[in-house]
Amino acid sequence: MKVLLATEKPFAPQAVKEIKGIIETAGYTFAVIEKYTHKSELIKALEDVEALIIRSDKIDKEVIDHAPQLKVIVRAGAGYDNVDLNAATQRDICVMNTPGQNANAVAELVLGLIIFMQRNQFDGTSGHELKRKRLGLYAFGNVAKMVAKIARGFEMSVQTYSPSLTHDDLRKEGEYGVLSVYSVEELFETSDILSLHMPLLKETRECVNYALLSRLPEEALLVNTARKEVIKEADLIRIMDERPGFRFITDIQPDNHALFKEKFGNRYFSTPKKSGAQTFEANINAGLAAAKQIVDFFHTGTTRFRVN
Ligand code: 3PG
Repeated sequence: MKVLLATEKPFAPQAVKEIKGIIETAGYTFAVIEKYTHKSELIKALEDVEALIIRSDKIDKEVIDHAPQLKVIVRAGAGYDNVDLNAATQRDICVMNTPGQNANAVAELVLGLIIFMQRNQFDGTSGHELKRKRLGLYAFGNVAKMVAKIARGFEMSVQTYSPSLTHDDLRKEGEYGVLSVYSVEELFETSDILSLHMPLLKETRECVNYALLSRLPEEALLVNTARKEVIKEADLIRIMDERPGFRFITDIQPDNHALFKEKFGNRYFSTPKKSGAQTFEANINAGLAAAKQIVDFFHTGTTRFRVN
């Protein structure tokens, strides 16, 4: 039985070594392709593979159609919008993610990005502190909870709106010192800094639109470490055009990156490559969790964290 680790954006070598160890100890064959540049390379590597570990690698119907032995895909990470779940389900392929495993890495980046922008990208001019600023978290999953915890250390006032809050989340809000507001409109109206933490779903695609953005304070900072598709980009450009103090920082380059850069100067910044989860620790956490989930799937039929 063969397990393939396919990562266009590679894990740290130590993580790969430990993933290999888990797979081989279980008696399976391990293969890896990294930094591949074309889908055909992935398709070729999948020929005789039964289990696949990926990151943001795109697994569409064509890829699935070319993997006749495939039984399980584990997305080493949280968001699985890169996998065609319908195509997988039709083939009875189990798709899982590893929720929470890279949350701390992304959360730390959120605070790093906020400081970078509050200090005017370190251009030498007077910036702003985080203390007593109002931080709004749109959605309250694993990353947002960690952001809240760290932000409280900066004495920020943290609030959230999440359309899908459970009793457990509410209990945790208390634990994290977060105030829950009643509507997303209220969240936007009362946040100096607004950070996006929703998964990309049918319901969340372009949910951050002009109507919502215009509720933010004039000099608000919008932070995106979620997915670029949750923001309606034309509406964001419009609001930044209208408001000379509005700022935007993102870990996912928008389609109009060059235009943002040219038009908005240091009111805008994008990391060159999505790097929220790109830490040694997160690679180990998510990568090893994925390998163990595959072994459990074949040994005991465990499908915890199945998403399809
Ligand atoms: C996730 O969904 O887990 C994060 O966006 C990280 O994605 P990556 O593995 O492509 O860095």
